[in-house]
Amino acid sequence: MNKRLKEIQISGIRRFYNLVSQYKDAISLTIGQPDFPTPEHVKVAAKLALDNNKTVYTNNAGIIELRRAISNYYKKYGLNYNPEDEVIVTNGASEGIYLALNTILEVGDEVILPGPIYPGYEPVIKLCGAVPVFVDTTNNGFKLTAESIKDKLSSKTKCIIIPTPSNPTGVVLSYDELSKIASLVSNKDIFIVSDEIYSELVYDFEHTSIASFKEVFDNTIVINGLSKSHSMTGFRIGYTLAPKYITCEMIKLHQYINSCASSIGQYAALEALTNGLDDASPMREEYKKRRDFVYKRLIEIGFDVIKPNGAFYIFPSIKKFGLSSLDFATKLLESEKVAVVPGDAFSHLGEGYIRISYASSMDTLEEGLNRIGIFLKKL
Ligand SMILES: Cc1ncc(COP(=O)(O)O)c(C=O)c1O
Repeated sequence: MNKRLKEIQISGIRRFYNLVSQYKDAISLTIGQPDFPTPEHVKVAAKLALDNNKTVYTNNAGIIELRRAISNYYKKYGLNYNPEDEVIVTNGASEGIYLALNTILEVGDEVILPGPIYPGYEPVIKLCGAVPVFVDTTNNGFKLTAESIKDKLSSKTKCIIIPTPSNPTGVVLSYDELSKIASLVSNKDIFIVSDEIYSELVYDFEHTSIASFKEVFDNTIVINGLSKSHSMTGFRIGYTLAPKYITCEMIKLHQYINSCASSIGQYAALEALTNGLDDASPMREEYKKRRDFVYKRLIEIGFDVIKPNGAFYIFPSIKKFGLSSLDFATKLLESEKVAVVPGDAFSHLGEGYIRISYASSMDTLEEGLNRIGIFLKKL
């Protein structure tokens, strides 16, 4: 067995999810995917693709029409990628992360990443024989800053991971904050992996891609996809955007892992990024209402919590209740039948927090939060 792989654990989200599945009547606030159906016109496009026998291998990088649509879509963030050789359609954003990190990392390289963080990067970094170097963002409103990155830079730093909006905190980095990071990294031989999978779900200001700063464009790999913007998690369509010299290396890996992303998913994604550019807008409006409600209720019932600006997660502190995040989540499940994700699923820096997803109806959120309030009174 591969020793590095043996040391990697199954994601904490999955482990807790298995426990939750034993409580059939529990209210689950663990969900990491939109609770809206895939838009109707996108489903029609998928069915048409099937009927028209679009069921064969595509170009490794994806059908050119979709790569063009992705490239056009990213123009709204001030970016210009050549669909011929700077875009790869991947099997979800997850594959994009895998391709990016495996393309740039070598044994002993260091990767700076904020924590708490989505658990999809650390195991891949370790599998490459590289070393994750966490920036503790818990005392800074969960924000990665240029100053905090500077403290962690070393001669071995190969890459910085910037997920904005963030899962699990919902925190979004602003134009000015990203600009400072871009200035710090400029002229350094360091890559940036910018995970923008929640770019359509930003509530209080516009999403900024760090790749739009000229000083880091050449070193940045953007990861995005249709999972969250178009509620298409099961279609498994993501993409990478990166300068040609990086993309031409990533495509080799992609070819040997996947050949290509699902052809039917690609035709559905083409429809989404052609005639469904506003599909995320009603979802965004709804999530924003829920965000405001959940934030207000959490404060009312006694949590310390940072107001998120994006994605559909909120990450309240449970430090004052004196339980580990796993104990808190387990007891809450057993006592009130409400499931939340223990914060330690999001790196060691997530200990002392829980993740609540508001990708659930208002009624569910209201009931879930009432029950959490009752639970706190019993503690
Ligand atoms: C920050 C982040 N990046 C990537 C992914 C993976 O997305 P996909 O389902 O498209 O592989 C997720 C999924 O939850 C995520 O939260």
